[in-house]
Amino acid sequence: MGVTVEPNDGGFGAAIRGVDLRRPPDDADVAAIRAAWLAHQVVWFPDQPMAHADLERFTRCFGDWGHDPYVAPVAGHPHVLEIRREPDEPVAPFGGAWHSDWSFQAEPPSATLLHAKIVPPVGGETWFADGAAAYEALSERERAEIDGLTAFHSARRPYSHEGFRAGRGDQRSMRILPSDRAWDVQPHPLVRTHPETGRRVLWVNAVYTIGIQGMPDGPAQALLERLCRHATDDRFVYRHRWAPDMLTMWDNRSVQHCARGGYDGHRRVMHRTTVAGDRPR
Ligand code: SIN
Repeated sequence: MGVTVEPNDGGFGAAIRGVDLRRPPDDADVAAIRAAWLAHQVVWFPDQPMAHADLERFTRCFGDWGHDPYVAPVAGHPHVLEIRREPDEPVAPFGGAWHSDWSFQAEPPSATLLHAKIVPPVGGETWFADGAAAYEALSERERAEIDGLTAFHSARRPYSHEGFRAGRGDQRSMRILPSDRAWDVQPHPLVRTHPETGRRVLWVNAVYTIGIQGMPDGPAQALLERLCRHATDDRFVYRHRWAPDMLTMWDNRSVQHCARGGYDGHRRVMHRTTVAGDRPR
């Protein structure tokens, strides 16, 4: 039996079964998983107890490593980040506001993979928003208003020294590595075309998108706020519940996500890798 794909109603998100990720998947399985990931944008594999080496090997089935700055990796595993929150941690979850991973890079990751090690009994969901559906739901007038605009992305809010202090980064159990490099600015199309599916995607997020080229800050912030609110409207959101040993992989080129809290008093531990992407166009 090969992989089976069970999509959510509406097609955004799908469970994949019939593969053991502790072994190298064969070419047919990788092709089927890749097709499901492109079609459904968020795919998850229940009941996959994976060691770091398994996660690393599976990640590389989808391309080269992404570049993961600002967070210290797991010792001996330079491409694996541990997303950890302790029961008494006094700060919001890591990734707790809507974002696309590392959208401030010239070539942000194509995929992020997240493997659940310790899952709290309540809360701790990850919410995903479908940027292609959000774009397609805009009126022609709204699309004409934003097609062709360039947005600026930067890591400064969470990862500059100032942002780190404001977010009380020193009180996290994760080791965040703030840097002056976080002030760098990266221009990206505000609406990108997905390089594999060809779908147009509303590509702004509340954490990293800081401005719009050629637009004064007031109107730019107002437009960004309106677009970010639209992009994360309930119509486009899938609320993902975790179970221990579940691996989830999303298309970072069309999906943004947000780690939810609601589990104070409980530990949550996940391991994360990224796959290299290309320059948004
Ligand atoms: C992240 O933003 O990658 C973290 C997501 C999560 O922990 O749910």
